[in-house]
Formats: sequence, structure tokens, C-alpha cells
Amino acid sequence: MYINFWYPAGISAGITASPVRRRMLGQDFVLWRDAGGQVHCLSNICCHRGGALAGGKVVGEEVQCPYHGWRFAGDGRCTLIPSLGREARVPARVRVDAYPVAERYGLVFAFLGDLPEAERCPIMDIPEYMGEKPDAGWAATIQHFEWNFNFQRSIENGIDGAHNEYVHPTHGFSGEREDLRIATEDYRWVDTEWVTGFFSSRRVPPLADAKMREASGRSADAVIHGGTGHHGVSSLWTLIHPTGKMSIHQYLFEAPMDEDRTSLYLVNLRNFLIDPAEDERMMVRNAVVAGQDRDVLCDVRPVLTPEDPRREFLTPSDAAIGKYRDKLRGWQDRGWRIDMDEVNRTARRQAYAIPSPARREHRGWIIETVPLCPAQPSVRAGHPGGG
Ligand code: FES
Ligand SMILES: [Fe+2]
Repeated sequence: MYINFWYPAGISAGITASPVRRRMLGQDFVLWRDAGGQVHCLSNICCHRGGALAGGKVVGEEVQCPYHGWRFAGDGRCTLIPSLGREARVPARVRVDAYPVAERYGLVFAFLGDLPEAERCPIMDIPEYMGEKPDAGWAATIQHFEWNFNFQRSIENGIDGAHNEYVHPTHGFSGEREDLRIATEDYRWVDTEWVTGFFSSRRVPPLADAKMREASGRSADAVIHGGTGHHGVSSLWTLIHPTGKMSIHQYLFEAPMDEDRTSLYLVNLRNFLIDPAEDERMMVRNAVVAGQDRDVLCDVRPVLTPEDPRREFLTPSDAAIGKYRDKLRGWQDRGWRIDMDEVNRTARRQAYAIPSPARREHRGWIIETVPLCPAQPSVRAGHPGGG
């Protein structure tokens, strides 16, 4: 798991004035919305004696620890230690980590890391959105899933052009066609600092859903064009065009909860059957398709992607996965990968927080930051690795 990316922390409507707990990157966070509508996200561990802030309540603009009533502002500063008396000054180092928050597409995102704003990988763009609403001609749905697989396995599945045929009877032939071959030589690649993806064509059966099939006007097999790729460490985009006029654009924002559990938010855009009455039909279909992936992903072993390349046999259709792994390696070289072996070894006697931007300004923090895999010296000097 990696610090220094934006992660989805919830559906906007679900973050209210009552504090909620969210697990991301193997740590707990508390989120709440203040009276002005601003969402705050803090490390959940109180720096007094480890109370869980999300178990407390919001008082005014601040969250109050359920254990001894210490209050923390949205910027992580402790503003009140009741046992010292209301007038007592709170020492400056009594603070917890506070993370940048943004709301987009009906979701709340938290930036879990200390990287300065200008250097951050942006939240994945959804071009079909103008502000908070989809453009005219598009309808959007949002779905949330929490499943027992590792996020990297899931992202690798998303950019794997060969699995559709076997995993998705909804849009593959389940291996019944003998002319299957993934023509990777025809891929049109996208490869930037944060994104790897490709556009390709493949033969697919007619849509299974009768109403969607009718809307598509296609009742026979056809070659369709589409694209898919990852954005940053754990977001995916998939552009599906069942016919020349029909588009399904899917944007999946994932947050690793732990190494073996992942929270997924699917924003699905469609430019057909855009009446809200059709939302349910799309959501049922999306849940069926995502469940097909889930059933495979929960059972892959090892749970984490092997570190030793000799322990897998990759083919050309796995090329995007290789490129994604190169990027992960570059982010590890920048010192962004959490050393989970060390966390798991020590977590019962050592509380950790993901470092926040304020760690670069203030000293003397009470809660330790998560151990990170060592950065490569050449990269630490300021040159991002990874291609
Ligand atoms: S542990 Fe939070 S106030 Fe004591
Ligand atoms: Fe899939």
C-alpha cells in the first residue's frame, strides 16, 4: 500500500455532522462535515492515550474524543484538554494528522500523505462531469463495494485484456469461440507519469440485457472499441462502446482498507437510457459484472502480487500489468510504499499514522508515522522514478 495518493473515503451524502470511521492503508481515520459544509479527515487515534476519535462526537466545528473529551479542530490541532481546565493553553505539539479533503463526483476524497500540493497525482478526471453534475446527455450512478481482495490484484485485473472472455459471460464468449487471440500488437497505448492504459478492439456478443440490447440496435456479434487503464495507484478507467453511438464510461476509485480488503467506488456514466428510472437497471448490471471479477479475485493466491517475477508466467496480454508494476516500483523508490511487514510485526504495541502535510512544518509529533520501504537515494534527491 502506498502513501501520497488521493483515496475515496466515502459517498458525500454519507459524511454528515456525526463522525464516521474509515479504514484506509491499514489505518483508521475519522471524517465529519462541519456546519459550513466542509469535510474534515483526521487520523483516528487520539494522541492522549489512544482513544478512537470516531467514537466521539462533533462539538461545534471540532471532534471530541470519547475517552477524556479532548477536542481536535479540522486542522488536527488539539484545542481543549478539559482536565487542565477551560483556560489552560494546549501545547502546540498536541495534535493529530489532518489530511487534505476534496469532494468530486459525489464522493469524498482524502489525500493520505505529506507530499506538497503541486507534486501530487491529481484525482482521476471524469471528463463527462462539468462541476458536480454530469453533462447533458449523460447519466451517472455511484456504487460502493467492500471486498476481500488486495487492491493491486484488482487494478491488475482491470487492465488485463484477456480476462473478459472467461470471467464475464455478460460480454465474453466464455471460451466458446476458437478464434480468440488478444491482438496486443494493435493496442494504442497511453503512458504518462500517472497513467498506463490502452485502446483496443474485440469481438463481443450482443448485450445480454434485453432493454439495453434494444437500445443498442445490435442483436449480433460485433467488433467493439474501448479503452482501459489505471490512474495512479488505485483508480481505473474503462471506456466501453457497445455500438458507435452508445457509451458506458466507468471510473473506479479504490481505497485499500488493508492488504486483503478493498473499498471500491464505481462511478458509471452512460449516454443511453438516461432516464433516472433506468439507473437501477445499470446498477444491477454493474453489480453482476463487478461480482464476476470479485469471485475470481477473492480466490487468487498469493493474496498479494508475488514480488519474484519467476513466480508468474506473463504473456503479451499482461503487458499493461507490467507497466503498472513499473510505476508502482517508481513510487516505492520515492519512499511511498508502506512497509507492511514492519507494521504487522509491531502494530499491537505501536500506533501509527499516515504522515500528513503538517509533518513537514511541525516537529515533536506524538504518534509515530507508518514505516516506509526505503526510498532510492537518486530518487529522493528529487527525481521521480518509474516510467
Ligand atoms: S484518549 Fe482521547 S482524550 Fe484521552
Ligand atoms: Fe473484469
